[in-house]
Amino acid sequence: MTAKTPEQSRTIMTDLVLPSETNPLNNLFGGELLARMDRAASIAARRHSRRIVVTASVNHVAFSRAVPLGSVVTVEAKVSRAFKTSMEVFIDVWTEDRESGKRTKANEAIYTFVAVDETGNPVGVPELIPETELEQQRFIAALRRKQLSLLLAGKIKPAQASELKALFEE
Ligand SMILES: CC(C)(COP(=O)(O)OP(=O)(O)OC[C@H]1O[C@@H](n2cnc3c(N)ncnc32)[C@H](O)[C@@H]1OP(=O)(O)O)[C@@H](O)C(=O)NCCC(=O)NCCS
Repeated sequence: MTAKTPEQSRTIMTDLVLPSETNPLNNLFGGELLARMDRAASIAARRHSRRIVVTASVNHVAFSRAVPLGSVVTVEAKVSRAFKTSMEVFIDVWTEDRESGKRTKANEAIYTFVAVDETGNPVGVPELIPETELEQQRFIAALRRKQLSLLLAGKIKPAQASELKALFEE
C-alpha cells in the first residue's frame, strides 16, 4: 500500500446553520455539529484508506465557541495518523464573518475510524506521512491519544500505555 499525506485526505464541508439545527439560545446544537464532523471525517478516512470506514471512537471534542444561527460553518477534516487498521482524523471547524469573510476557529475534534471489509472485519490501511509542522505535531500526539482511548475503553492495561505514561514522568 502506498503511503499518503494528510493533504490527500483533506475534506472540506461548508454549510449554513438553519433554525431547525439550533438550541434555545439560537446557537448550533452540539449534536448537529458532531454529525457534520463525523461525515467530513469519515470521508477523509475513506479517501485515505479507499475502504469502508466506521467510527470507532470520538476521542476529543472542544465546543469552544458558540456558532450562531445563520453562520456559515466550514468543517475541515484530515487524517492525522494511520495505524494498522485505524486512522485518527483531526477536524477543525471555522465560521466566516459575513462582511469581511474573515475565518474564526470555532471548534475542533478528533475521531478514530477503522477500515473494514464488507463483513465488518478490520483491514489494513496505508501509512500516513505528515508534511507540515502542525501535521507532524498531530501525528506524534496521536499515539498518546490512541493509548488513552484504548485505556478508557478497557482495551489495554495502564502498563501498555507507554507513550501516555511518559507524559506524566517528564
Ligand atoms: C470499530 C470496530 C471495527 C473495532 O473492532 P474490534 O473488534 O475492536 O477490532 P480490533 O480490536 O481489531 O481493533 C481494530 C482497530 O481499532 C482500534 N480501536 C478499537 N477501539 C478503539 C477505541 N475505542 N479507540 C481507539 N481505537 C480503537 C484498535 O486499536 C485497532 O487499531 P489498529 O489496528 O490500527 O491498531 C468495531 O468495534 C465496530 O464495528 N464498532 C461499531 C462501529 C460503528 O458502527 N460505528 C458507528 C457508530 S453508530
